[in-house]
Amino acid sequence: MRLFVSSLALTAASITLAQSLNFHLTSGANDNHFYRDEVTSAQVLLTSANVPTNLRRFVAALPAGNSGALTHFLPLNSTSPLTVTLVNGSLISTVDEFNNAGIQADLAFTNSATLGVTIIGAVRAMRDYVEGDGTMHQIFNYTLASFNATTIRFHRQNINLTMTASGNEAYKTADLYLSIPESSTAQLSVRPAESVISPPTVSILIPEDATNSILRLRFVTNETSPLGLDPADVFQSPTTARNAQLRQVLQGLADGSKLAAQQVSFLTFENKFTAGGWRFLTYFGRDSLIALRLLMPLLTQDANENALGAVIERANSTGALCHEETIGDYASFVNLQNGRGDLGNTPFYDYKMIDTDLLLLPALSHYFLDLPAGKNRAPQFLSRHTVLQNGTYAGILNRIANYNFARAVPFFINPAVSNLLAFRAGEPVGNWRDSNQGTGYGPIPFDVNTALVPASLRATQALIDAGILKPLSPLVIDGRVVNATAGDVAAVWEEKSISFFEVNVDRLTAERRLATFVEATGLSEQILRQSPTVHDRASFYALSLMPNGSPVQVLHSDLGFNLLYGNNVQKTFLQHAIDALTPYPRGLLTNVGMVVANPAYDSNRTNTGLLDRTAYHGTVIWSFQQALMAAGLSRQLNFCTPNNPPTVDENPPPVTRPTWCSDVEFMRQLRDAQTRLWASIEGAIGEIHTEVWSWSFDNGTNAFAVADLASLSGGTESDAIQLWSYGFLGLLNPGS
Ligand SMILES: *[C@@H]1O[C@H](CO)[C@@H](O)[C@H](O)[C@H]1NC(C)=O
Ligand SMILES: *[C@@H]1O[C@H](CO)[C@@H](O)[C@H](O)[C@H]1NC(C)=O
Ligand SMILES: *[C@@H]1O[C@H](CO)[C@@H](O)[C@H](O)[C@H]1NC(C)=O
Ligand SMILES: *[C@@H]1O[C@H](CO)[C@@H](O)[C@H](O)[C@H]1NC(C)=O
Ligand SMILES: *[C@@H]1O[C@H](CO)[C@@H](O)[C@H](O)[C@H]1NC(C)=O
Ligand SMILES: *[C@@H]1O[C@H](CO)[C@@H](O)[C@H](O)[C@H]1NC(C)=O
Ligand SMILES: *[C@@H]1O[C@H](CO)[C@@H](O)[C@H](O)[C@H]1NC(C)=O
Ligand SMILES: *[C@@H]1O[C@H](CO)[C@@H](O)[C@H](O)[C@H]1NC(C)=O
Ligand SMILES: *[C@@H]1O[C@H](CO)[C@@H](O)[C@H](O)[C@H]1NC(C)=O
Ligand SMILES: *[C@@H]1O[C@H](CO)[C@@H](O)[C@H](O)[C@H]1NC(C)=O
Ligand SMILES: *[C@@H]1O[C@H](CO)[C@@H](O)[C@H](O)[C@H]1NC(C)=O
Repeated sequence: MRLFVSSLALTAASITLAQSLNFHLTSGANDNHFYRDEVTSAQVLLTSANVPTNLRRFVAALPAGNSGALTHFLPLNSTSPLTVTLVNGSLISTVDEFNNAGIQADLAFTNSATLGVTIIGAVRAMRDYVEGDGTMHQIFNYTLASFNATTIRFHRQNINLTMTASGNEAYKTADLYLSIPESSTAQLSVRPAESVISPPTVSILIPEDATNSILRLRFVTNETSPLGLDPADVFQSPTTARNAQLRQVLQGLADGSKLAAQQVSFLTFENKFTAGGWRFLTYFGRDSLIALRLLMPLLTQDANENALGAVIERANSTGALCHEETIGDYASFVNLQNGRGDLGNTPFYDYKMIDTDLLLLPALSHYFLDLPAGKNRAPQFLSRHTVLQNGTYAGILNRIANYNFARAVPFFINPAVSNLLAFRAGEPVGNWRDSNQGTGYGPIPFDVNTALVPASLRATQALIDAGILKPLSPLVIDGRVVNATAGDVAAVWEEKSISFFEVNVDRLTAERRLATFVEATGLSEQILRQSPTVHDRASFYALSLMPNGSPVQVLHSDLGFNLLYGNNVQKTFLQHAIDALTPYPRGLLTNVGMVVANPAYDSNRTNTGLLDRTAYHGTVIWSFQQALMAAGLSRQLNFCTPNNPPTVDENPPPVTRPTWCSDVEFMRQLRDAQTRLWASIEGAIGEIHTEVWSWSFDNGTNAFAVADLASLSGGTESDAIQLWSYGFLGLLNPGS
């Protein structure tokens, strides 16, 4: 771990320190540059030079206060195309007076430019602009602090004052500087706006035939930069690996020679794992926990326990788990909106999701009960005292277990739709498909009800049986003590919840809907002929249920949750997984990955457009969903043939061998589905550590190609690096 020298009282414009991370990635329409040293941690993006656009975007995003800056450059003369590129090796950290620290980069301009929309301060405010159709709030306005022909400084004073430890008032601020380095040929022309709320007019003037037209750009903030984990803090060393598979995947991780190790390192900190960059460089519970479930066997004890601890620290006093931690200036904004301006910039913890609550105990149980690294670690972990709240980890974990149990008991007593878990009152979202329309507007999601509730209960029971959790507190419902264990309640959920989601479409109707779908979405009829027609009927599980229990008839990839987290997965379920893992649009597989939703069979044709290839949770490919599916299938298959083929993760088989294991033909079909899944994954192997991608279809070759989601969606874009997508680091293609 590096020492953070934030107290450096330097006034120099920049200093050079040994950097621990400095790498570059092209993804979608952006060149992404990542940097970390003792001073700062930052991601910088520029629109790639080869993207045909007149709008060149610059983004800087820092985990420090989750703050940054976004600006645009447009050609001054619209007939002269503009490209802006980062000069190799110019990205460094920089410090300024008042504890300001951040990054600096030199940008090369091919032509004169004018400055477009600029947002300084909160990354979340930048996202509101990008994803919210240009949404801006005046409260985030910056001011023009100073300028001349070679420099300009924009200043953003955060909404709230904060108190320093000594009790003096200090401002938390963010500044964006543009300056022309000496011996560069560019010049600045600045016209301040008449009113303070309007942005100034800024031109970057590049003489014709200029050879060295550089603009230096700096973003600094005096928000505190969290302590980063180096690759060796995150990953176990291969020398201590207990088997060949683990040794193989650990090669190049702890020493950082694999780029993926540096990428994970960039997202991980001593006190939290962040979800992805540039858009999510802050704490997210779901992302941390799913990433952990997949990566745990590769991580050091400290990394595992700090990441689990970060989740426990942020539980609320009822036992719900935090989805997103809002810090910095945006926390002031959220607090104000909630009528709690008195809280200033106190972090805001959001508890709206219903899946996050259920992901912790399965991860914890996997670590303490299944993995060698976690065995015997529970006592010291449980006795830890929290930093962000009062109490020990043990106390908070018992609270979480009781909270989840209480929410599951009504369905145990009366297994009716009304007792399934639905999104919280007034919330349009609640699981990972959190784009409002992501579940087709159904508020009762498949993943939570069929996979996560029972998995969390099974984990609770296992942890109680191992003496790690305390027995659950007696629960009184309608004046009667509920006499049931977590295991009893889990069994009812496992058996009964899934049937509410079953969808059957007869053969003729299914074929007719497929044909209409193919036409509506610009696919070819030929593609339908590449896989066998529907036999008797199309059977699958709904994506979600409407409040009245009617299923949203969208085929989806959330079956991966049941495969990876579930106990007692039935043959019918696995048959549905086999059917889903067939070529799109009959199933989910394209030659560039597995789509997460497929509305082809839906009688409600509105969902064809709602969940198409331009939608964030539509017929698009999310890497972590592929990882869950691949890891889950391998887990289920290994229940039949333990350690054959050998895996990195350790999943002890159930006491009773599943009955379907002895059906040879069925096992062959499962293995074929696994082979198809991996072929699909390998078709876009270059994307697997990114967040999400879409596709284009060539009706000449009937093949799909990777397409950038941002260019199709007109707003929502993909992160170049996404924590849970690194789950693939622990997965091996069984066929290779
Ligand atoms: C814009 O560029 C074109 C081509 O270089 C040139 O002919 C034209 O005069 C320029 N316009 C202005 C306003 O500078
Ligand atoms: C900058 O580095 C990239 C690779 O990192 C290389 O492809 C490119 O040619 C370099 N550009 C210059 C101007 O050196
Ligand atoms: C101030 O906010 C308004 C409204 O969001 C926006 O139109 C304007 O460009 C902002 N000005 C500055 C200097 O940020
Ligand atoms: C512009 O301002 C910068 C920073 O204040 C200063 O260093 C520089 O000398 C100024 N340049 C001119 C031409 O005044
Ligand atoms: C942050 O910077 C501002 C000026 O930019 C300064 O007034 C303030 O004291 C600084 N805060 C801290 C904690 O150093
Ligand atoms: C934070 O700033 C807002 C807006 O100016 C103000 O209403 C609120 O009282 C401030 N809170 C604190 C704790 O200073
Ligand atoms: C904790 O979060 C849950 C879920 O949003 C909520 O129902 C509960 O009221 C919260 N507890 C407190 C004390 O705010
Ligand atoms: C911790 O407990 C003390 C004493 O009961 C209380 O004053 C304080 O508010 C608590 N802190 C938190 C974060 O709950
Ligand atoms: C059909 O789908 C649309 C979009 O998801 C939804 O708003 C509508 O309620 C659905 N209709 C029915 C009958 O479920
Ligand atoms: C609770 O259930 C257990 C096992 O099912 C049974 O032995 C016990 O008598 C029950 N206790 C009460 C109070 O009903
Ligand atoms: C392929 O798509 C193009 C453009 O949409 C269309 O004109 C053409 O008819 C299609 N060809 C086939 C074989 O479907």
